[in-house]
Amino acid sequence: MQKRILTGERTTGKLHLGHYVGSLKNRVALQDTYDTYVLLADVQAMTTHFESPALIRESVLDVALDNLSVGLDPEKVILVQQSHVAAIAELTVFYSMITTVNTLRHNPTIKSEMAQYGTKELTYGFLGYPVSQAADITCVHADLVPVGEDQLPHIEQTHRIVRKFNSLYGDVLKRPEALLSDVPRLPGLDGNSKMGKSLGNAIYLSDAPDVVATKVRSAVTDPSRISLKDKGHPERCVVATYHNVFNPLEAPDISARCSGATLGCVACKGRLTEVLNTLLEPIRIRRSHYENRVDDVVSIIAEGSAKAQAIGAETVAAVKSAMHLNLYK
Ligand code: TRP
Repeated sequence: MQKRILTGERTTGKLHLGHYVGSLKNRVALQDTYDTYVLLADVQAMTTHFESPALIRESVLDVALDNLSVGLDPEKVILVQQSHVAAIAELTVFYSMITTVNTLRHNPTIKSEMAQYGTKELTYGFLGYPVSQAADITCVHADLVPVGEDQLPHIEQTHRIVRKFNSLYGDVLKRPEALLSDVPRLPGLDGNSKMGKSLGNAIYLSDAPDVVATKVRSAVTDPSRISLKDKGHPERCVVATYHNVFNPLEAPDISARCSGATLGCVACKGRLTEVLNTLLEPIRIRRSHYENRVDDVVSIIAEGSAKAQAIGAETVAAVKSAMHLNLYK
């Protein structure tokens, strides 16, 4: 039996280069060795975007297209729409009984998202989404969860739930391992420590070549370097960081020439644009292939969701029976 991966994204918009290096690249590399489930997390998207149902609906398709565009093979990988897997909702209810509000409140990712979105409109569903994420993962008994580092607190929450459930009711749930990529967090074009959909500092996998060029031109560089004659500090420059990640062979030379004031920002950014567009070109080609077959993509999602629900229903039955909720079944 192949080991299983479950990972995914909230469907709040298109995916960007941060998703690519943080998780998508890993899942593409592992799709031949693992039975892979990719979750289109539309319920989790509602934790922050419940006022925008049309955006969430559109993003389910966009995120599916992004995943297929980077090279996930729909013959191998299972795409799952979270709202169509009732088992996830059922497990979430049971897990919420054994999860303390305090651990959720102290979850560092929850805290920083609360700061970002504001706490006034904070919902019960938002605070509890790590519980629902534990349901996503354990529903299909995933062994491995490839994610960016901001997701580690949620995997820890999953561990807590698995440990507590199994010790209270018997060994039913599988403990998953997180898999971090070698680039767990890509900074935004504006120098923010994270590239984020809602931060307006992202290069999308679906951006056209000229959009990539414009965005790279706007990226913040070393503020102390005003003219070409000034020596640059690549360690303080987002563009240099991107060269390290996306252009590792040339990056040391580029950094040296920046520090030595022989390479200017315009040329440095021009080279980065070329490198990024070379990376994105095959992704754009695959995207347009699937965009011309949207009905097929919708069927792939529907079939994948049914498959996850079939496995999830068995998990729910085992969970209920362990919790003595099986008086007549
Ligand atoms: N929280 C993840 C994100 O914000 C999305 C997600 C939902 C997820 N369920 C998951 C990731 C299960 C890994 C496993 O992108």
